[in-house]
Amino acid sequence: MKKINIALLAGDGIGPEIVAQAVKAVDAVAAKYGYDVNYTPALVGAAAIDAVGDPYPQATHEVCMASDAVLFGAIGDPRFDNMPNAKVRPEQGLLAMRKKLGLYANLRPVETFASLLHRSPLRADLVEGADFLCVRELTGGLYFGRPQGRSEDGCTAYDTCVYTREEIERICRLGFEYALKRRRKLTVVDKANVLATSRLWRETAQALATEYPDVEVEYMFVDNAAMKIIQQPRHFDVIVTENMFGDILTDEASVITGSLGLLPSASIGTHTSLFEPIHGSYPQAAGKNIANPIATVLSAAMMFEYAFADMEAGAAIRRAVDLAIERDIVTEDIAPAGVKASSTTEAGDFIAANIA
Ligand code: IPM
Ligand code: MG
Repeated sequence: MKKINIALLAGDGIGPEIVAQAVKAVDAVAAKYGYDVNYTPALVGAAAIDAVGDPYPQATHEVCMASDAVLFGAIGDPRFDNMPNAKVRPEQGLLAMRKKLGLYANLRPVETFASLLHRSPLRADLVEGADFLCVRELTGGLYFGRPQGRSEDGCTAYDTCVYTREEIERICRLGFEYALKRRRKLTVVDKANVLATSRLWRETAQALATEYPDVEVEYMFVDNAAMKIIQQPRHFDVIVTENMFGDILTDEASVITGSLGLLPSASIGTHTSLFEPIHGSYPQAAGKNIANPIATVLSAAMMFEYAFADMEAGAAIRRAVDLAIERDIVTEDIAPAGVKASSTTEAGDFIAANIA
């Protein structure tokens, strides 16, 4: 028996429902591959603001630090979206968590499912076979740069984009390393024609490229990359980019696959790694048992692969997800016309049963 400790941070909106499905998948894997799993739930997001007035309480941080992996649901609550001057916001919890856990790299694989090609808003022949990995820097740039705020009269606002050579180098190195493990092609995305941080980014990547002669590197402006991801998604193997560009490009990339509800992610860095769907808290669906659990279940697959180096366990989860999609045991966002959509729990039960 391998003992593992998982922190469960369900968060807001559909978070609790989708994390519950991932837990079923983890339990099924644990039974099959000999894990003894200890879950520790902890508060985060609006749920934590309501309970203790802090979106990432110290107690939650301690649970994360003491765990082998964090399984995360979603953060965000519409109550705060219309309160631009709220003192604390749920999203601050996510940012604080990333920073305190040192999660500087967010890995977002974009893969298509053959049987879902018809769901993509893009032509199937463009999308078929698209398979790339976005490596998004997660603890720098505009999200964390200071100063940030308003002038005294309230009429001017500012954010600051800051990157050090060291921050750029460690994320680009990861990009090169993943490219080596894949098809050996790296696209460095920046806006070096305008931004000073992007010029440092490009300079640093170019210097690093000399250490990786086997990787074909290209440099692409972010606006061009946004276009190319839609026009020619198969062009990409590994993309490495800064925080905000990565945020935007990965939401864009997710629609290629047919639903935002399909894409998982892993955040890795200095302390405990974290696994979460790339979608948000989808408050309109909260409590309705309709949200797609696949992105979170696949995040659990990434957890076994990245945190526990168990590719077999990850593959078992992936196979069960593939089967659910093949057999149309899927939620309404991806259910084919004329097929009755499954609920979140039905889809989760089917996946867990087929891991066992
Ligand atoms: C994401 C989300 C977050 C981000 C929000 C909720 C702060 O959009 O993980 O992509 O911008 O990083
Ligand atoms: Mg985002």
